[in-house]
Amino acid sequence: MAAYSYSLTLIFFCFLFRLFLISNAVVPANETFRYVNQGDLSFGNDYLTFVSEYAPTYRPLPPFTFPFQLCFYNTTPNAYTLGLRMGTLRSQSVMRWVWDANRGKPGVVGFAILSDGNIVLRDSNGNFVWQSFDYPTDTLLIGQSLRVRGGPYKLVSRESATNNVDGVYSFVIEPKRLALYYKNNMRYWSSTFPELNRDNVTIVNATLVVQETEYEENNFNALRCNLQNGQSFEFPTLDLGQVQYNSSLSYLRLGIDGNLRLYTYRANVRGNAVWTLLYTLFDKREDEGGMIFEDECQLPNRCGNFGLCEDSQCVGCPTPNGVFAWSKDCNTKSPGCNATGFKYYQLKGVDHFTVKYTAGTGPVKQSECESKCTKDCKCMGYFYHTDNSRCWIAYELKTLTRVGNSTSLAYIKIPVT
Ligand SMILES: *[C@@H]1O[C@H](CO)[C@@H](O)[C@H](O)[C@H]1NC(C)=O
Ligand SMILES: *[C@@H]1O[C@H](CO)[C@@H](O)[C@H](O)[C@H]1NC(C)=O
Ligand SMILES: *[C@@H]1O[C@H](CO)[C@@H](O)[C@H](O)[C@H]1NC(C)=O
Ligand SMILES: *[C@@H]1O[C@H](CO)[C@@H](O)[C@H](O)[C@H]1NC(C)=O
Ligand SMILES: *[C@@H]1O[C@H](CO)[C@@H](O)[C@H](O)[C@H]1NC(C)=O
Ligand SMILES: *[C@@H]1O[C@H](CO)[C@@H](O)[C@H](O)[C@H]1NC(C)=O
Repeated sequence: MAAYSYSLTLIFFCFLFRLFLISNAVVPANETFRYVNQGDLSFGNDYLTFVSEYAPTYRPLPPFTFPFQLCFYNTTPNAYTLGLRMGTLRSQSVMRWVWDANRGKPGVVGFAILSDGNIVLRDSNGNFVWQSFDYPTDTLLIGQSLRVRGGPYKLVSRESATNNVDGVYSFVIEPKRLALYYKNNMRYWSSTFPELNRDNVTIVNATLVVQETEYEENNFNALRCNLQNGQSFEFPTLDLGQVQYNSSLSYLRLGIDGNLRLYTYRANVRGNAVWTLLYTLFDKREDEGGMIFEDECQLPNRCGNFGLCEDSQCVGCPTPNGVFAWSKDCNTKSPGCNATGFKYYQLKGVDHFTVKYTAGTGPVKQSECESKCTKDCKCMGYFYHTDNSRCWIAYELKTLTRVGNSTSLAYIKIPVT
């Protein structure tokens, strides 16, 4: 299934755009698209007149973009595949099947966009043969899950508003936590759920739900984790903002900037519906109502390629000659791979964005930490805590947080010439 999942998502989205605004988390019932593969094949169908590859019987579906048409086709009776046909009715040449949604798993009779926004292919028993909920991109809808076994394992940010390819951030489900990564291996946030402190207790899935809390009668959006070997009443959650109205039209998105936000769709006084930003993980706000907030300084790119951050603001541009005013052009020069071609300069009271949520190595001596960085020409600098002798190697510097603690030291490489 995985092999064609991305193509299927792509193709569906191409025509979804033509049918309704894609930004709706849940498609209004009157604008959903549903196609059931049943009834008289000879009516309104062209397979008797026009030849197509493999000589199947088929039913064209409404989505059509010249010269492509989505069809159910079968080459053995009652074993339908959702396929993409290429060719034109007028041409005498044989039409080709250029893509299949469910190769090897035929039986598909229906295609539907459900009211929760899930796009499904159903077999004759009503079971889902394929569903878009299993292939999220950067967004989870209410009822949609990440799963530790079998996936989907993560959301991946989009690169930019104009470039819809995988970006550098991912939101990942792991047996013991939910975590945010920059470039797959640099963790800049993770959940801390006390329910998971016991050895054999692990997360099974994390599902976006509208959940009433024990204490409040209002609806509450939460990313709720279901556990294996946990107690039946234990559901560790990320609380994502309280609302006074039915908020099942909501979605959680990993943004282009690596931030996690919950948006909800609500009717306003004029009867229009508007998107409201309900929750932002990395936010200037103080903690409130049990919700988790992080300083924006934890976002790897908050202050660009190299900048000093304090209380969610970019406050400086470190150089060997002192800290200058921040600008988005602040950067370091590449140290190169010659071990005698660079030196280090020290910054006091700063941490790398990975320090807060990764253990680093240690205890080690500072000289060992330095020599590790020196021998590794991809290392741009290292971070060292003198109070517990822990060491972090940085392959990208990005945003450094000012922590006001003299036990946190940074050593940045610069070329000597
Ligand atoms: C669906 O219903 C909404 C609200 O009743 C209406 O504004 C919209 O035009 C309808 N869409 C279609 C495709 O009929
Ligand atoms: C999990 O650990 C608890 C306490 O250590 C134990 O009672 C239980 O049997 C374990 N469950 C499994 C499935 O290993
Ligand atoms: C999540 O896990 C729970 C507990 O194993 C299970 O009952 C539930 O069906 C799962 N939900 C999804 C959407 O996979
Ligand atoms: C919230 O809206 C959903 C979808 O429209 C509906 O199924 C659900 O019953 C509503 N819940 C409440 C509490 O009104
Ligand atoms: C390394 O840098 C030193 C000092 O700049 C220089 O003398 C030496 O030739 C360089 N070695 C190489 C292999 O480039
Ligand atoms: C500095 O770090 C030490 C050791 O981790 C800690 O006890 C102390 O509270 C920190 N000081 C500040 C100002 O954060």
